[in-house]
Amino acid sequence: MKKRFEKIKRVSGELSLTGDKSISHRAVIFSAMASGKSMITNLSQAQDVISTMVIMHKLGASILTKDRKIIIGGMGFKGFKAPSSNLDCGNSGTSARLIAGLLAAQDFTSTLIGDESLSKRPMKRVIEPLSKMGTEFQSNENITLPLTVIPNSKFHNIDYEMPVASAQVKSSILIAGLHCDGETTVIENEQTRNHTEKMLGLSVRFENSKIISSSSSKYYPEAKEYFVPGDISTSAFHIVLTLLTPKSELILKNVSLNPTRTGFIDVLKNMGADISFVDIKTSSNEEYGDVIIKSSSLKNIQIESQIIPNIIDEIPILTIAGLFAVGDFVIGNAKELRVKESDRIKSICYNLISLGLKIEESEDGFYVSGKIKNPKMTFESFGDHRIAMAFAILSMLLDNGGEVNGFNCVNISNPKFEEQINSIVT
Ligand code: S3P
Repeated sequence: MKKRFEKIKRVSGELSLTGDKSISHRAVIFSAMASGKSMITNLSQAQDVISTMVIMHKLGASILTKDRKIIIGGMGFKGFKAPSSNLDCGNSGTSARLIAGLLAAQDFTSTLIGDESLSKRPMKRVIEPLSKMGTEFQSNENITLPLTVIPNSKFHNIDYEMPVASAQVKSSILIAGLHCDGETTVIENEQTRNHTEKMLGLSVRFENSKIISSSSSKYYPEAKEYFVPGDISTSAFHIVLTLLTPKSELILKNVSLNPTRTGFIDVLKNMGADISFVDIKTSSNEEYGDVIIKSSSLKNIQIESQIIPNIIDEIPILTIAGLFAVGDFVIGNAKELRVKESDRIKSICYNLISLGLKIEESEDGFYVSGKIKNPKMTFESFGDHRIAMAFAILSMLLDNGGEVNGFNCVNISNPKFEEQINSIVT
């Protein structure tokens, strides 16, 4: 589906976003694992989270919607039942990696499958540690989905130092570790999002600039009530649109403000953005609050390598902010962008080249200079929701507007994108 966006004049008003996708996946999985009924308020409506819910249902959990709340009847410790067919993760890397960790510890064989994009994304990163715990895996020569998980009665805890900065891999191992009496320890050299640790109340310590998180059966989730704050990664699109539109001001209500997710706001503030947080609260150990954004003049800055894991999902929209900032926009140390829903370095560079900008692409990033020259633009989404939304926002900032091919992929994270934007722009 091709979608056209016209230049907007102003952003104003107040918006509540649906629940954070990362927290929602975990709330659904932990509720399905627990014994008894859990209730989730403001769950994400993303297609990715639906993939996780359908899989939990296939493993035996009951799922009911009541007054815009989700009630999940969980199966208890090792209580899941063998599914009658393959478990489809759709486009969702988080479902595939986290659920691989859960399945690794069960007593039955199961197979994870995914769509074309997910079937190209690396699974070796979870197979390696989970194999060390005793589980066997069958996949193809590229070590991608479909992936058959064959648990073993000798399943045991491990200590594992992460070779790649990935919250999905860390979470997969920690979730597997919830099924062992002994402690499973994950050592990170770079901080990645810590929702799994916070929501399960795991032990985390910092030692010689390493982050060491541990799980064991004593942290196995119990049935509870979850409130999922608004999605901070979704908010990045509304934030950048507001910053770059003159005479604009926006209030985003109850957004997740977990510090391992707000890296892009730190970057934008260092670029000169007027963004503030008010009314900060917590739920399930997760911080959230209101975000106030006002139009700002931005200048490009050097983006340090240690913040990259915390801004990885926001790099497409940060690039759009960089196009309107003084100076050249540069991203490096971000090789992980190549194995997201699309090769995001390639997707961004392709679209920027079509604008007439000068682009130097490298293995782990890109350098953007020059001025936007081409007035009539059609951008490619490459079936990647964050690329589609980033270039929709850019279209709203261009004098002649622009269009995005394959725009329906936005449903992967935010089916309400257009409705939300229409409610705050004139
Ligand atoms: C996620 C972790 C990140 C992120 C993804 C969601 C999570 O992936 O890109 O959108 O919920 O744990 P990696 O951990 O593989 O970088």
